Amino acid sequence: MKTPFVNKEMVEEIVKDFPTPFHIYDEKGIRENARKLKQAFAWNPGYKEYFAVKATPNPAILRILKEEGCGLDCSSYTELLMSEKVGVVGSNIMFSSNDTPAEEFQLAAKLGATINLDDFTHIDFLNDICGIPETISCRYNPGGTFSIATTIMDNPGDAKYGMTKDQLFDAYVKLKGMGAKNFGLHSFLASNTVTNEYYPTLAKILFEVAVELKEKTGIELSFINLSGGVGIPYTPDQKPNDILTIGEGVKKAYEEVLVPAGLGNISIFTELGRFMLAPYGHLVTKAIHEKHTHKEYIGVDACAVNLMRPAMYGAYHHITVLGKENEPCNYTYDVTGSLCENNDKFAIDRKLPKIDKGDYLVIHDTGAHGFAMGYNYNGKLKSAELLLCEDGSTKMIRRAETPEDYFATLEGYWEV
Ligand code: LLP
Repeated sequence: MKTPFVNKEMVEEIVKDFPTPFHIYDEKGIRENARKLKQAFAWNPGYKEYFAVKATPNPAILRILKEEGCGLDCSSYTELLMSEKVGVVGSNIMFSSNDTPAEEFQLAAKLGATINLDDFTHIDFLNDICGIPETISCRYNPGGTFSIATTIMDNPGDAKYGMTKDQLFDAYVKLKGMGAKNFGLHSFLASNTVTNEYYPTLAKILFEVAVELKEKTGIELSFINLSGGVGIPYTPDQKPNDILTIGEGVKKAYEEVLVPAGLGNISIFTELGRFMLAPYGHLVTKAIHEKHTHKEYIGVDACAVNLMRPAMYGAYHHITVLGKENEPCNYTYDVTGSLCENNDKFAIDRKLPKIDKGDYLVIHDTGAHGFAMGYNYNGKLKSAELLLCEDGSTKMIRRAETPEDYFATLEGYWEV
């Protein structure tokens, strides 16, 4: 059972000011979750979460997280600019990018961000552009497959990110020779993990690398960045991660591996996106058509432009029909958007209560990698984003796109 943070009455009020479709975020949920994360890692004095801006690039959301003590993980020029605009600069920015253009490194350096290098060759590239900063991080890719117990979680060997261990060690030595003084280690080995073992398993691998680095080169790391990857239960049957258990698991590995090696001062960083925001966002959409052909279709006023994950990954997003929470799910529908793409379906063969035109549907867990992945195919426009504030009021935190926005880049080119 998944319960939305809005109900039918609330949505009927909200649509008087803001028509569907829209994304809405739950400030209370976001803050409570951020506090729990902080509590889970309170044992580590240097701990900091750098929220992955790519997941939910909205200034209002970033400001909430800033107030909760988070920094920001940026991956591009515009994310860096947004971070600066919300007043997050200097070491409160982690710049974790790959295939990075020169101007992005330049801006990151200008803002004083901690730069996390994806490759050994980026050392000279960065040095030529803006020199090597005192604090620098390197991204590690151990290759092969990444398993927890007997389950293969992902294939780092196929991933474009990070350096091999030999390259990593050479990188630290080279960076030190070029004047760097504080060193970090970063790795992201599996996405959307719904297990309390992911971070502890990753942490142990990285802690062992830190010990080996010290033994082989004498270089001591200042921070280890566990990056993102802690997942959420998209389906109602999945058991949510327990962040306190996860924090305890990382602590245990820290005490077993780092402390005995004299590395008990290393700060732990995270770069979570999905875990911080996904459950606290809904896409709210209205049923506008029903179609009875070879299958039963419900057409809604949102489409993959508003939420791409089902079309792109076949991702499951739970749907609640507002006002019909307790009705039997005895209809089978494809819930579709209006794109000229047959994969523009929010649900396929989904058991739902009978849906009537005008019903409001909540599409769950869209707070991260939801609005953010939007695009403009078929000339469809991106929706507004709303915030359900802690006091129960709703405010708009991004207006919907208009045709003028869509045509803005053609200004001056209509007659070319
Ligand atoms: N740090 C780095 C360097 C990343 O590349 C990412 C996500 C994160 C942190 C945050 O990861 P999270 O905690 O959200 O898993 N579009 C996909 C997800 C792609 C994730 C890309 N990197 C999706 O919708 O599932």
